[in-house]
Amino acid sequence: MTSSEVRQGPPHVAIIMDGNGRWAEARGRPRTDGHHRGVERVREIVKACPELGIKTLTLFAFSSENWNRPNYEVKVLMSLFRRYIVREVDELDTMDVRVRFIGDRTRLPRDLRRMMSQMEERTAANARLTLQVAVSYGARDEIVHGMRHLAQQVAEGRITPDQIDADAVSGALFTAGVDDPDLVIRTSGEMRISNFLLWQAAYAEFAFVDECWPDFTADHFADVLRSFGQRERRFGKISAQL
Ligand code: FPP
Repeated sequence: MTSSEVRQGPPHVAIIMDGNGRWAEARGRPRTDGHHRGVERVREIVKACPELGIKTLTLFAFSSENWNRPNYEVKVLMSLFRRYIVREVDELDTMDVRVRFIGDRTRLPRDLRRMMSQMEERTAANARLTLQVAVSYGARDEIVHGMRHLAQQVAEGRITPDQIDADAVSGALFTAGVDDPDLVIRTSGEMRISNFLLWQAAYAEFAFVDECWPDFTADHFADVLRSFGQRERRFGKISAQL
């Protein structure tokens, strides 16, 4: 199965790109080599999305817990994000990709924050694919941040507590305005959600694949999408009601 054989993928796919470190260690190389190779896979998967019918791709690039990694690894990852922005912004813009970053930016280096904002502004009007990159992201932090915002609005008398419904909560998250993921993929054989899109993934399908992220090609991606296409999503109903 190749990407060209998948006619219509799910509108929003989210990916936990796991296994970079193990991929490198298995080859006797430094963990950061896995992150370098991981960037190549990011490029390949992003490019494959439009022809697969995907409208939104969300990538988990750096979690709020990843700040606890060794300093050197964190620095390499921050440099990779910088380099990705510099190298890819023109091509992503030409491909009509809108880029958004989700997560707690206050912890990121100032220059990277500025580069992220510039990339978002430059691509804001693009419409073929929305690429959400989760950097310094943790879903619990996101929910806490959003709840504080709603509580503040109540305290200021802008809304009443009974106006807080599911849409209001969705609108208070970093992902405001973007539809929920239909499919969450995690690479490297691990079967955990790891504080990723906890609210948004309420009705998502999950796919866990054995390949580490540096080995996850567009053809593997197409295979996962094909098997997603065979699932029946019932959203709590029974088949006959669909
Ligand atoms: C998880 O593998 C991966 C990360 C923490 C970093 C992901 C980053 C990239 C793929 C590169 C940069 C991304 C963009 C969007 C430019 P791990 O290190 O936790 O692997 P392990 O579980 O084997 O240790």
